[in-house]
Amino acid sequence: MGEDHAFGTELARNLQRIVKAAADSVGAGDSGELIDRVTGHLGVPITQALVVTRSFEDWEHATIQAGVDAYLAEQNGGARTDWFGIAGGQRGHEDLVGMLVTAKKHGLYELGAVDYATVAVGPDEAADVVQLGIVGTVAPDGTRVLIGVRGANLQYGQASSRLEVIAADRRVATETRDRIEQLMAEHDVLRGQVIAFGLSEHRSNELVTFLPRPQLGTDDVVLPGGVLDAVERHTVGIAEHGSRLAAAGQHLKRGLLLHGPPGTGKTHTVRYLMGRMPDCTVVILTGSAMRFVSKAASLARRLQPSVVVLEDVDLIAEDRDLARGGTPLLFSLLDAMDGVGGDADVTFLLTTNRAGSLEKALADRPGRVDLAVEIPLPDAEGREALLRLYSRGLDVTADLAPVVEATDGVTASFMKELLRRSALRALAVRPDDSRVRIDDADLAAALAEMNDARSGLTRSLLGSQGRSAPG
Ligand SMILES: Nc1ncnc2c1ncn2[C@@H]1O[C@H](COP(=O)(O)OP(=O)(O)O)[C@@H](O)[C@H]1O
Ligand SMILES: [Mg+2]
Repeated sequence: MGEDHAFGTELARNLQRIVKAAADSVGAGDSGELIDRVTGHLGVPITQALVVTRSFEDWEHATIQAGVDAYLAEQNGGARTDWFGIAGGQRGHEDLVGMLVTAKKHGLYELGAVDYATVAVGPDEAADVVQLGIVGTVAPDGTRVLIGVRGANLQYGQASSRLEVIAADRRVATETRDRIEQLMAEHDVLRGQVIAFGLSEHRSNELVTFLPRPQLGTDDVVLPGGVLDAVERHTVGIAEHGSRLAAAGQHLKRGLLLHGPPGTGKTHTVRYLMGRMPDCTVVILTGSAMRFVSKAASLARRLQPSVVVLEDVDLIAEDRDLARGGTPLLFSLLDAMDGVGGDADVTFLLTTNRAGSLEKALADRPGRVDLAVEIPLPDAEGREALLRLYSRGLDVTADLAPVVEATDGVTASFMKELLRRSALRALAVRPDDSRVRIDDADLAAALAEMNDARSGLTRSLLGSQGRSAPG
């Protein structure tokens, strides 16, 4: 009886202890499992673990993941690896070892599920990446290491994506990180892609957008005889003969400036060239994104063969005229072009509406733009070719000759718009036609509309150079 009583008391006391422990762990976080997981893998106490980290641009997150995945495949031979996460606390402020030490001291963090994020890796492709997670693996010499991946998290004031390697031995940790970086370079998700740097409203940070690679045929670009050939030889041609040129001691880096009035096809030509260099990485900078020119240039160097497109670069040159002594932006541009070595298979493609001021800046420091090509207003032959090009899907019964004659001085994009308006009119006048048929009256009316004084703004926007065409 007495024994029974004693047993009951013992049980009650133990239960109390269990409840107390549970309450404690709710309050302080049960970091035991997390620390056990880490120290169990490393084989040393957490205080003896050290971490080496490397920060990357936030948009390199997918490439970090690709590098880590490649490392794990290399070390584990494709065996299943176990990622784990960290839950609780204020994540993002410390490096992983900092978090783990905090976990041990204050019980702030605990073992949790891996956080995943989805990031773009192509124009229509996304990949799941680890936003916050750790995975255990073994370095080539048998030392146990932990690899941590953390995506940028602006909410926590962390603007960069990070790779962290934890080990008991600094040399091994550093070697592991270096190897992962090599693998990142091999598996860079940006390689061979068309990407644009832009500014996001939400973050004062640059953002990389993937764009589809345009596919234009030679017939889609209407330029005076020989112009497209010259442009192509200087860009695609050098890429095709890259290794032989380099072997013969010739430099590969090249700069091409396309200049001419707005709407003549400079951007169009750039888009054509992108399609003609399907293996090139293309980095496009427009407008205010031009400030990232040095980043773009180093990216281009890393991801050769590559093209850096600097659209409407006159904005930079104009800046310089305003601010006495030159703006940093123009110098950044020139420095970025200089910073790419002559042996790099990198093409700088610059477009501008006003070559004058820019040419001088570029001419003052030669070796950057080695070919400047004017993209002029289309001549009569060009205007006729444009009418034919942009009426491909239309049924044109109109006589083109009077229109060609009446449009002297307009741009290529004017001709394109002329057909669109003619098509709109045809649809309005003859809505029941099965095909959109354009007759003389449609073309004449569209042209009159575009030449109308009230369309003065349109005309100047389309760049007809203020010359009023009769008709
Ligand atoms: N030379 C051209 N050949 C064929 N289409 C052209 C040409 N120039 C312009 N276009 C058409 O007009 C549009 C606007 O031209 P764009 O290349 O943007 O002019 P720019 O960059 O010289 O200001 C192009 O997307 C294309 O559809
Ligand atoms: Mg343009």
